[in-house]
Amino acid sequence: MPYSSFVNPSPKLKQKREVTSFVRRAGRITSGQKHAWQSYWELYGIQNTKRIIDTTNVFNKPNRKLIIEIGFGNGEVLIDSAIRNPDNNFIGIEVYESGIGQCLIHLSDKKLTNVKLINEDAKRVLIHSFKDQTIDQINIFFPDPWPKKRHHKRRLINKDFVLLMQKKLKKNGCINIATDWDDYAEQIIDVFNKSKLFKKANDLTLNLETKFERRGLKLGHKIQKFTFQLH
Ligand SMILES: C[S@@+](CC[C@H](N)C(=O)[O-])C[C@H]1O[C@@H](n2cnc3c(N)ncnc32)[C@H](O)[C@@H]1O
Repeated sequence: MPYSSFVNPSPKLKQKREVTSFVRRAGRITSGQKHAWQSYWELYGIQNTKRIIDTTNVFNKPNRKLIIEIGFGNGEVLIDSAIRNPDNNFIGIEVYESGIGQCLIHLSDKKLTNVKLINEDAKRVLIHSFKDQTIDQINIFFPDPWPKKRHHKRRLINKDFVLLMQKKLKKNGCINIATDWDDYAEQIIDVFNKSKLFKKANDLTLNLETKFERRGLKLGHKIQKFTFQLH
């Protein structure tokens, strides 16, 4: 390496590339989803996630239980849960733009007022936008499995992310997780056991039926659902 590179490292060397749990897919976005983005994002989207979210500005009824869903895909469970629990507030975090578009279509059809969406990396959002001990529940259903061993470092649920979630949850708050990948399930149980901050509660009884649950079942995978509760 030339001496000048040590003295004046190239931006490439200075910036260690962050490993993310997703790859931004250009993906096909339908005209209906595009229209939903243009028409409803202003109503349902939370912008400027570098600042702490003030739920009193965001929800009509702010002093309600706050439930976060990370990686909501097309938003099937998010919307179903919000309809079934009108007294809770929901924030969905997703990076997949066509999924967000689809979710916006349903949010506006059902005229829901207790759901907001964020289009950002959930890790950054948790770090920058939520005060500690403000979230009642975090749901992560079928996180990307990254099955190849060399990609395991991309898995969302690891030691650091569990610590981050623990900081943001209220006392007795809980995390619901579902996966159809056996070795990811093992990793999840291991990382929660080692953290000693959570106890394993009764397994999740929620009937999910998400797109990725159906896909897992079709592939003959076993679906595993967990609830971990903060001590
Ligand atoms: C396998 S899909 C599951 C989607 C949905 N929960 C379901 O069960 O159908 C995982 C989703 O998580 C999203 N995702 C992955 N990492 C994320 C992150 N760091 N922040 C927000 N969303 C993320 C992906 O874009 C993808 O839509």
